[in-house]
Amino acid sequence: MGASRRHFLAASAAATSGFAAVHAAGDDTLRVGLIGCGDRGTGAASQALQADRNVKLVAMADAFEDRLRSSLNTLRGKRELIGKVDVATDACFVGFDGYREVIRRSDVVLLCTPPHFRPMHFRAAVEAGKHVFAEKPVAVDAPGVRHVLQTVELARQKNLSVVSGLCLRYDNGFRETVRRVHAGAIGDVTTMFANDYRGGRWKKPRTEGQTDMQYHMRNWYNFTWLGGDFNVEQHVHFLDVCAWVMRDEYPVRAIGMGGRAALNSPDYGNIYDHFAVVYEYRNGARLVSNCRQNPGCKNDLSAHAVGTRGRAVLSERTGGLSIHADQTWVYEGPQNQMYQTEHDELFAAIRRGRPINNGDYMTKSTLMAIMGRMAAYTGQLIGWEQALASREDLSPPRYAWDVPLADPPVAVPGLTRFV
Ligand SMILES: NC(=O)c1ccc[n+]([C@@H]2O[C@H](COP(=O)([O-])OP(=O)(O)OC[C@H]3O[C@@H](n4cnc5c(N)ncnc54)[C@H](O)[C@@H]3O)[C@@H](O)[C@H]2O)c1
Repeated sequence: MGASRRHFLAASAAATSGFAAVHAAGDDTLRVGLIGCGDRGTGAASQALQADRNVKLVAMADAFEDRLRSSLNTLRGKRELIGKVDVATDACFVGFDGYREVIRRSDVVLLCTPPHFRPMHFRAAVEAGKHVFAEKPVAVDAPGVRHVLQTVELARQKNLSVVSGLCLRYDNGFRETVRRVHAGAIGDVTTMFANDYRGGRWKKPRTEGQTDMQYHMRNWYNFTWLGGDFNVEQHVHFLDVCAWVMRDEYPVRAIGMGGRAALNSPDYGNIYDHFAVVYEYRNGARLVSNCRQNPGCKNDLSAHAVGTRGRAVLSERTGGLSIHADQTWVYEGPQNQMYQTEHDELFAAIRRGRPINNGDYMTKSTLMAIMGRMAAYTGQLIGWEQALASREDLSPPRYAWDVPLADPPVAVPGLTRFV
C-alpha cells in the first residue's frame, strides 16, 4: 500500500540477536509487540502482560514518537508490570513502516492503530505466523473488509489465534444474557434496537507547520478514511451485540440517514455526528440503529431485542442486563473485566495450542457498520452483497508525511454516490 517513511530510534541488530538467543535457550516466553501506542494500545499491552505468567512486551511501533514514548513510560511505571516491559530503545519504531519490525520480533501482536491500518497490519502479522489481538473495527471500507476476510481464512489455515476487541463478547453478563436469548428465553427475535448516544468527541485542531498527513493522523477520529465514521468506529460495538443475538446472521439490506448537527466545525473533519439506520434481515426481522455525538444530551449505550415471547435488554449500566418474559430475570452473576478476559482467553488458547478465531464476526460486524454508513451517506437502500462488493477505497495515494491531502468532503445524501 504505497511507500512510507520509517525512523528507527536506533539500529536494531543487537536486539535481533538477543531474541535469537532467547529461543535457543528454549525459553517459553511469549513475546508481545504493540502497534499503535495510544490509549487503547497502552491498555491492551497492560492486559496482555497480565494474561500469562511468562510474557514480555518486546517491541512497539507508533506513527508518532511522542505517543510511543508516553505509552512506554506509562507501561514502565505500572507496578504490576515490573519485569515484563522489556522494550529497548532499538525496539521502538516510529513512522508508517514500524509495524513490520514489531511483527518480526513478536509472537503475539496487538493491533491498536486507527482502523484504517488494520487490514494491512493484520495481513502482515498473519503472513508472518503471529497470533493477533485486533482492536475494533477492522476496516473502514469494503476493500479493507475483503482483505481482512481473506486474512481471517489464512489465520485459520495456520492455526493462529485472532481475538477481537469487540469486548462485550467477553463480558460475563452479556454472555449469559445472550446465552439465554439463544436458549429461547424471548422466543424468536423480531425487532432489535442498538443505541449509542454519547456526548461530544475529541478533536485535535491543526497546528502551525503541520503537513496535511500529520494533521489527519493526529485528528484521525474525525476523518472517514482513518476512522470509518462514528457508525463504524464506535457503534460497531452494539451492532455486533445484535449480530451476536442473531447467531451471527447479518442483515440483507439497510436504509438510513445521518448528518452533522452539533459537531460541524472544520476540525471535526468530514464525519457525521448522528446516524439512524434500519437494518433488515432475511426473515423480515429489523434492527433500528441510532447513534449520535452531541454535548449536553442524555447518553445511552444499549441494545434491545424483542422476541415473540418477551424482550431482552443488553446494557453495561448496573442492572442493565435483563430478560422480561413470563418472568423477569436480571443478571446478578459475577462481574469480570472484559478487557482483561479477552487477553486471558487469547493467551490460554495460545498455550494450549487450540486457537480462538473471532475473525468472522469481527469482520462482518465491521461491514454491517460500513453498510449503515453507506446507506446514510448516499440516502440509498444498500444490500449486503452490494456493500461487500463496493469499490470505494478510502486509502490515500501513499503513506508519507508530505503527501498532499485535500479536505475530504462531507457526504450529502441524495448527491453522494455509492461506489
Ligand atoms: N474495544 C474498545 O472498547 C476500544 C476502546 C478504545 C479504542 N478502541 C479502538 O482502538 C483503536 C485505537 O484507539 P485509541 O483510542 O487508542 O486511539 P489513540 O489515538 O489514542 O491511539 C492510536 C495510536 O495509533 C497510532 N498510529 C496511527 N497510525 C499508525 C500506524 N500506521 N502505525 C503505527 N501507529 C499508528 C497513533 O499515533 C496513536 O498513538 C481504534 O480502532 C479504537 O476503535 C477500542
